[in-house]
Amino acid sequence: MLIQKPSDIRPSEITSRDNYLNRRRFLEAGIAAGSAFVAGPAFPALLPQRARAALEFGSSEYSTDEPPNSYEEITTYNNYYEFGTDKADPQRNAQDFETRPWTITVDGHAEVTGRFDLDDFVKPHALQERIYRMRCVEAWSMVIPWVGIPLVDLVRHFRPTAAAKYVLFESLHDPERMPGQSSRVLRWPYREALTIAEATNVLPILAVGLYGEVLPNQNGAPLRLVVPWKYGFKGIKGIVRMSFVETQPRTTWEMAAPNEYGFYANVNPGVNHPRWSQAMERRIGSSLFAPKQPTLMWNGYGEQVAQLYEGLDLRRNF
Ligand code: MTE
Repeated sequence: MLIQKPSDIRPSEITSRDNYLNRRRFLEAGIAAGSAFVAGPAFPALLPQRARAALEFGSSEYSTDEPPNSYEEITTYNNYYEFGTDKADPQRNAQDFETRPWTITVDGHAEVTGRFDLDDFVKPHALQERIYRMRCVEAWSMVIPWVGIPLVDLVRHFRPTAAAKYVLFESLHDPERMPGQSSRVLRWPYREALTIAEATNVLPILAVGLYGEVLPNQNGAPLRLVVPWKYGFKGIKGIVRMSFVETQPRTTWEMAAPNEYGFYANVNPGVNHPRWSQAMERRIGSSLFAPKQPTLMWNGYGEQVAQLYEGLDLRRNF
């Protein structure tokens, strides 16, 4: 992956975009019908956008208290090679991408399989706001207020059988709608996977929203994975398939450069990328002259995930 300076990013206030119709937008998009709704206060427009989202979708004990990056930062500095390799490309090139209708195929070793319309896929589950740190393998980071469904709820819904050891996700493959796919920069479709134990941990979510609004295209609409203790490339966007499989799948960045990007991709300041250190990170939005901050083991989520890797050699399984 290339490292670029976000010269186009300016810090801006998280409360600058005042829009209290968040939930209505979700309803219009048809993806909140089954979600738990916590009644908001009388004057929701007076609340900061993030606080409103927490009220409407339920706040989570797993959310960080760190200040989130601005909506502008999160939606203009992206990696989404289907729409170009420059950080500004996804925002520029994904605007007209149609995310309706959208179907998701669930197959493999599970009792419930089939092809589901996005609304039916999401509807049985409660939406939650989760404010997570995101650490990219390129040594930058953000704090992002997602709205999504805990992945564990979805996995349980499809009742994987004992043969299911991994969950594989695939992005849409449609070069006519995703111009970056006419380049061979990666093997398409983008693929990512988790072990069943990882996928049923409390932290991963399938996100459908950001800052209490419907997920923007450049962030992976209509559905993307968020795994906060792993490097950002595990967070596959534009998901159209979820497969319960027996053997460890080969994933996109691992196939592209197996000595640089591993299957596990756990954030680990003690295991450097062959071309750069992973000890520190630059928080997007901070001044280019501000000191970098130390990267935390498992991105600071060790309490929830360390037990998943007991006995595993993290140098070899990077
Ligand atoms: N998913 C797809 N389908 N294609 C991609 O190129 N890039 C990954 C990940 N998911 C990518 C993807 C990488 S490298 C990162 S760091 C995150 O998305 C970036 O997510 P963000 O742009 O929402 O911050």
